[in-house]
Parts: sequence; structure tokens; C-alpha cells
Amino acid sequence: MRTIRQEPAPAKVNLALHVTGQRADGYHLLDSLVVFCDAGDVVTLTPGPLSLRLTGPFAQGLEADPDNLCLRAARLAGREAAITLEKNLPVASGIGGGSADAAAVLRALDAHPAHPETLGADVPVCLAGVPCRMQGVGEIVTPLPALAPLHLVLVNPGMGLSTPEVFRALTRRDNPPLPDRLPDLGTPEALLSFLTDCRNDLEAPAIALLPVIADCLAALQDAGARLARMSGSGATCFGLFADPQDAARAAREIGATHPDWWVVATGLAPAPAKG
Ligand code: C5P
Repeated sequence: MRTIRQEPAPAKVNLALHVTGQRADGYHLLDSLVVFCDAGDVVTLTPGPLSLRLTGPFAQGLEADPDNLCLRAARLAGREAAITLEKNLPVASGIGGGSADAAAVLRALDAHPAHPETLGADVPVCLAGVPCRMQGVGEIVTPLPALAPLHLVLVNPGMGLSTPEVFRALTRRDNPPLPDRLPDLGTPEALLSFLTDCRNDLEAPAIALLPVIADCLAALQDAGARLARMSGSGATCFGLFADPQDAARAAREIGATHPDWWVVATGLAPAPAKG
């Protein structure tokens, strides 16, 4: 690496997440619709020996140790770089986090390792960085035709959840998948009506472990979200809005009532630049 590279690591949101089975190795089979937001972390790589520096509002939630996914991504790619991670997203919160950061490091290095999913199940979809259907345990990623430009409010109650613990708390692992052929999701009404029939199967077990998630969902609904749901294994929840002004107003209202929660209004991210 000869030049300085800066890459956004956009927040990932699972608009729907169906848990459809479990492999012999314990990993769960998923069928998920994934989008990316304007909000996110940022990684900056400069030439030099491999190192990691953490900045940003959530830097204190992480250690710059060798297990950090940014460093693991660079090692998997067999490359050196001095990495700065600006951590703007809450840690361990169901919106990509470490996987988004690892994918951004691989993009900045222009590296294409054979099995990026070994870094984390969400790394392949974060590498794609565009709206996708994600299947298998995360390694099957199919980009979707353009989705309606919805606006999101992300709400995190300031408490993390352990992903394995949430999966372990599932009562059913054989839930129905999404339809084989997805309908046209290009208008807000079509997307919202489709999503209403979808689920996040991890929502109920996550609420059982961390009941405040139900309060986040209720706050989004009370603030006018057309649909409120948890992302990933939680605890971050999202509300969907057709109008960016409604999303901004909802974020202000929820933030004023719950000053200890992390609340942002965000649009969908543009596709990352190639190369
Ligand atoms: O791959 P990642 O580090 O994101 O996964 C964290 C944990 O979540 C895994 O160790 C596994 O327990 C669980 N998981 C799962 N099925 C998936 C993805 C993750 O059971 N498809």
C-alpha cells in the first residue's frame, strides 16, 4: 500500500432476518434482506507496519488488540498498513460493526481473500455494500435490484448483546424463508408492504434477554415509523420512514425522551466506489 486510503464502513441493517435452519457445526442458516446506511464507521489506512488506532465516540468500547477484525482482515489479506478506525457506531449492536470495519479494510487494500466469511458471517455482505439478499450462514450474497429510497432511524439502548447467546435463546430454528422470488421492491409502498410480512426471528429471543429492546421498538412506532424492527442480533432497532423530514423529527423526539440512547436518522448508502 503506497497511498493513504479512507473507506466508509457503513452500518448494515437487516430489514428482514429469517432463521431457517442450523448446520451441523452450530451456525444458523439465514435468509435476510440487508441494506447499508449513510451512518457508519470510517477506516483510514496509511503506509507502515500493521497497527491499529481507535478514535471516535465508541472507541472506548473496543480494544486495539490482535483479535480486532480490522487487524485480522489485513492479516488475512497478507498486507501491512497503519489503520485508524473511527468508531461512530455502537459496538456489538447488530448493525455490522466489526464485519463492516473488516470489509472496509479489505476494500481499502483492494484485497479479495477467498473466504472473507472466516472473519465474520456478515463480512461478505458488507464487502458487497449494496442492498442484498443474504443466505447460507452469510456467505451467499445476491445483490438486489434498486430498493425504494427509504429513510431510517436507528436506535440503540446503550447495551450490547452477545450474538451467540441470542442464537442460543431461539425457540425455533426452522422458520419459513423469504419467498423464492422477491417481488419488485422499488417503491416505498411495495417495500413496506413486503417487509410487513417478514420478520427478524432473533427479535423475540433478544427481547427476552434485553427487554429494553421492546421499548426502542415502541418508541420508534410512537414516533411514526411505518415499520419498526430489530437489526441482526440486536440491540439496535430501526424505524422506516418514507420522508426524510419525518425521520429527522422522529430521531429528535426519541433522542429528547431518551438522552441515554444512541439515535440517528440516516438514508441508504450509495454503492461503494470500485477498486
Ligand atoms: O460470524 P460472527 O462472528 O458474526 O458470528 C458470531 C456468532 O454468532 C457465531 O460464533 C455463532 O455463534 C453465531 N452465528 C450463527 N449463525 C450465523 C452467524 C452467526 O449461529 N449465520
